[in-house]
Amino acid sequence: MENEEGEEYLFKIVIIGDSAVGKSNLLSRFARDEFDLHSKATIGVEFQTQVVDIDGKEVKAQVWDTAGQERFRAVTSAYYRGAVGALVVYDISRRTTFDSIKRWLDELDTHCDTTVARMLVGNKCDLENIRDVSVEEGKSLAEAEGLFFMETSALDSTNVEMAFEIVIREIY
Ligand code: GTP
Ligand code: MG
Repeated sequence: MENEEGEEYLFKIVIIGDSAVGKSNLLSRFARDEFDLHSKATIGVEFQTQVVDIDGKEVKAQVWDTAGQERFRAVTSAYYRGAVGALVVYDISRRTTFDSIKRWLDELDTHCDTTVARMLVGNKCDLENIRDVSVEEGKSLAEAEGLFFMETSALDSTNVEMAFEIVIREIY
């Protein structure tokens, strides 16, 4: 996909949320169709570029992933710079990660303007037996904050592509 100057469009999307909610596995599932049951906490910043087909047109998504843990995070302003989309992730089996969402949204607001396409993601929906946050709670927070909402599983692939695609479509 090219603009009038013949340049390719590149959409920067950031993934944020507490440590161990599955940010890195959402990215590896999306970009490489891989999942790691024993993935280590991210240190610093990583990104992967993935070409997505949107109605027959190629869109390049550059997805950035950083540490949920404060001490492992890189320079925050650089991480958010130029982002046009954001996945704000919690773990449906750990309520504390859901309680942190407001804080992540505040950080996003501090560093990006309000036009950034934002998706609230309740990850690990395969862990239904130990669910700690209901679908309804996720939905109503998303509604209150004006976010898209989706529950995903990086483990079994549920809605992972869909979550990214919805954000990319909103930007595109
Ligand atoms: P930080 O890098 O520390 O911020 O963590 P993170 O958000 O990147 O989490 P990561 O992707 O490393 O996943 C943390 C743990 O959760 C790992 O053991 C993963 O295998 C597991 N995990 C990630 N996604 C899922 C999922 O959808 N379902 C289940 N059951 N486990 C998952
Ligand atoms: Mg990580």
